[in-house]
Amino acid sequence: MLLVARARLKYLVIACIVTIPLLYFVLYQALPDTIASVVSSKASPKGRPGNKGDAQHVTPSPAKVNDGHPISGLIENAYARFSGLLGKRSWSLAHAAARYRELRGRHPPPGFDKWFEEAQSHDAIIVEEFFDRIHHDINPFWGTDPQEMRRQARALPHAIRVRNGKIAHPKDHDANPPREDRLELWEKLVQDMLPYLPDLDIPVNLFDEPRMLVPWEDIARNVAEEQTSRRLFPPREAAAERTSFLDVDTDPPQAFDPEWIDDKPRYWDYVSRACPPNSPARKVQPLETATPIDAIFPTSPNMSYMGDGGFISNFTQAQDSCLQPHLRDMHGTFVEPFSMVTSTKLFPFFSGSKLSVNNELLIPAAMYLSSETRYSGGTKHGGPWAGKKNGLVWRGTASGGRNQEHNWWHYQRHRFVQMLNSSAVALVQSGDSGAGPTFTLKAASSYNMSAPREGQLLGPWLHEWSDVGFNRLDCWPERHDWLGRLRLDCPYTDPFFALVASKPMAEQYNYKFLPDIDGNSYSARWRGFLLSTSCPLKATVYTEWHDDRLMPWLHFVPFDNTFMDIYAIMDYFLDGHDAEGQRIAEEGRNWASKVLRREDMMLYMWRLLLEYARVLDPQRDRLGFVDDLTTDALT
Ligand SMILES: *[C@@H]1O[C@H](CO)[C@@H](O)[C@H](O)[C@H]1NC(C)=O
Ligand SMILES: *[C@@H]1O[C@H](CO)[C@@H](O)[C@H](O)[C@H]1NC(C)=O
Ligand SMILES: *[C@@H]1O[C@H](CO)[C@@H](O)[C@H](O)[C@H]1NC(C)=O
Ligand SMILES: *[C@@H]1O[C@H](CO)[C@@H](O)[C@H](O)[C@H]1NC(C)=O
Repeated sequence: MLLVARARLKYLVIACIVTIPLLYFVLYQALPDTIASVVSSKASPKGRPGNKGDAQHVTPSPAKVNDGHPISGLIENAYARFSGLLGKRSWSLAHAAARYRELRGRHPPPGFDKWFEEAQSHDAIIVEEFFDRIHHDINPFWGTDPQEMRRQARALPHAIRVRNGKIAHPKDHDANPPREDRLELWEKLVQDMLPYLPDLDIPVNLFDEPRMLVPWEDIARNVAEEQTSRRLFPPREAAAERTSFLDVDTDPPQAFDPEWIDDKPRYWDYVSRACPPNSPARKVQPLETATPIDAIFPTSPNMSYMGDGGFISNFTQAQDSCLQPHLRDMHGTFVEPFSMVTSTKLFPFFSGSKLSVNNELLIPAAMYLSSETRYSGGTKHGGPWAGKKNGLVWRGTASGGRNQEHNWWHYQRHRFVQMLNSSAVALVQSGDSGAGPTFTLKAASSYNMSAPREGQLLGPWLHEWSDVGFNRLDCWPERHDWLGRLRLDCPYTDPFFALVASKPMAEQYNYKFLPDIDGNSYSARWRGFLLSTSCPLKATVYTEWHDDRLMPWLHFVPFDNTFMDIYAIMDYFLDGHDAEGQRIAEEGRNWASKVLRREDMMLYMWRLLLEYARVLDPQRDRLGFVDDLTTDALT
């Protein structure tokens, strides 16, 4: 009798093993929430809130402002969305693997268990959505031949080469690659996960600027192939063994030519070909740089990604140059980048930041791994909010591309410094339009503001709170003094800008508001700003590894790349919403100290490398982590 019962039980168990993965397929599509909660309650509860006090993150709900201001509404929305996201946190391997299958339609890559174990040992906050970027970046590579990609990765210079659990330094590397420090910083990060990595070649971009702009049609084809190749195969079909790299480790390596292009003044052409066919950017030609800014500056805060009041409601779209054809003449990257070494082919390549249309695999920017205080701000993060100056500060160089006498007024940093300069704005408002070649006030003046009330001009108001300026003017061609030192001034922009003393980041933290804008590419101060006790503001066309884990209007204040909304945003915080500014400062700092740690960067890169190793493996269609589906069901 007992034996029969046991045999039945065995059948039942086997039936479960077979049906559970099947149910995953069928039901995940229809009922993601229900299934996720079933899976999480079935999964081992160890590590749930309670025993890991430090790892918990509680977001206080916003004090209801209910003043009807659109920004108050955006802040409340951000809290709600973020709480929803945090509620999906994975506390167990089984839950993490289930959520992976739910979102990605595949089994996690081999090595997922070690990765999750390490994440838990660092109290890392794991929400599957925080890794969306990895899949966005890697998916097109599923449409390319793995053998071909292995050869390409092996042939490229400046690669981190992993063989047999060690970093190999091959002889064919340049003795002194440019910006070798970056290569070293990334190599150190890879060291932390080395015992768990299969053999790999990881070619990295040592330039500031991203380098791959593949035409949209090619990427669309690859992405479609990725989607049709998704399969949650039965666990018994899974392979965990990686294919050896012996075939590519030939001497000399097989050649690969990315056919790098240098065509700086036509950069926009390459960007627009990487945009969707029906996007606004695809339809426009590059502009003559002589075009006055009046002819291009949008006249109304009605962008598709702006909500009520003209404030950014979708930051992802606000970063997307395909939606903003005016940016071709309002951002140095598109006017004339500082350097251009771009390929229109798709091959394995890693970069610290990129435009929405670039095709590199994003990794944490090397400067975030550096301990240099000009990036990190050092160990100081600023004092209490109440002790800070009630204003905004920005210092920097006039970078952002190769600004020249015939085009400098199209560069974002020049525009920002002029639009926040009370004297320049006062001159323009008094009718001297020649005083502000970088901006117009038409769109800005259609915002509803309370501080510069009727009759009160922007100039004197800005004077109360704005402290911005360049500490170097970065002319092109560069000029040197008689001792051969780089000159900081610049004949063609001198009438509009005064050089000001630089302020170390620790001193900038004495101000409540810290805007951050792009230079030649992303801004390396951003992590320091987020970790500070001040309120960070951000306008950028560059995407970064951490974007999916930062919530605009909760951890930072987003503003538009035209800067048309900056006055209205400052008006909100300076006029009756100091507490909201303080909350963003504190919430951002709190969150950044939990999810932007070096450990978090390491874990992000580790997960990306697991995906990368799989997609480059000729056996990729059978590689997967399935232990949770077999062992869990038996115990
Ligand atoms: C925004 O308004 C301007 C001027 O009214 C108009 O020309 C433009 O087409 C509008 N843009 C969008 C995206 O609605
Ligand atoms: C400013 O307020 C007026 C009246 O409420 C409204 O019609 C207008 O759309 C608002 N402007 C913006 C930019 O939201
Ligand atoms: C923002 O836009 C992107 C791209 O169109 C979309 O996928 C995303 O869901 C939007 N996010 C929000 C918060 O609306
Ligand atoms: C501000 O603008 C005025 C007027 O154009 C200019 O003379 C001054 O140098 C500018 N100040 C800074 C810090 O750039």
